[in-house]
Amino acid sequence: MRKNIVAGNWKMNLNRTEGIALVEAVLSKLPVDNKTHVILAPSFVYLHKAAKICSNIPKVVAASQDCSANKKGAFTGEVSASMIASCSARYVVLGHSERRVNFNESNELLKEKVAQAFSSNLKVIFCCGESLKQREDLVHFDWLKSQISESLFHLSSDDFANIVIAYEPIWAIGTGVTASTDQAQEVHAFIRNLLVDKYGNEVAESTSILYGGSCHPKNAIELFSQKDIDGGLIGGASLNADDFVAITQSF
Ligand code: 13P
Repeated sequence: MRKNIVAGNWKMNLNRTEGIALVEAVLSKLPVDNKTHVILAPSFVYLHKAAKICSNIPKVVAASQDCSANKKGAFTGEVSASMIASCSARYVVLGHSERRVNFNESNELLKEKVAQAFSSNLKVIFCCGESLKQREDLVHFDWLKSQISESLFHLSSDDFANIVIAYEPIWAIGTGVTASTDQAQEVHAFIRNLLVDKYGNEVAESTSILYGGSCHPKNAIELFSQKDIDGGLIGGASLNADDFVAITQSF
């Protein structure tokens, strides 16, 4: 059975005081019978505190927004997977398009980051997504296939239990333009079929595939009702506790 997951990617927003206040606001607004797996990905700076606050709350955990491709050593400014795990985070977001585009992260580098995450027992939210030009040129399916296969398809079926895939079309991130429900479902089904071809039905049917890109309380219900959409990776709307909690309850 696939998990329904809603993750908040706070990106480079909120200082420590604001971030901790948002964690507390989200937790206070989640219904007591919350059934959705909720993941909060704040800045490294207060990840430890955020994770600690979540640690007694069922189905709520913290994630980092990235990790180093290296284990340790002379990499000034980098944060290793084992450091993240030692802060009680459970997930790491890898391959966000903002990192791929702004920091030149390649599929090969992301493969190394996945290995580091796994070596510290972190689960991975692996992001993929095409640009508008790629969609217009009708190369988006090939592009998504290469992003996923080149970074993940060396993994075993067992490893895949620790992978969540997030489809985030670049043209929908922070733009207010959401992929239509049909567009999103079409890509999610495509990704799930890639998993069927590579690993078989069992892995494909137990891997959660999240949608990200201008997801908000008004469109979440329709998106999450789709057969292959198991939740969302939320940017802007995750910075507002009411909106984010509403999205978590949109299944
Ligand atoms: P927005 O929800 O702000 O479009 O961002 C999506 C995203 O990039 C989440 O990782």
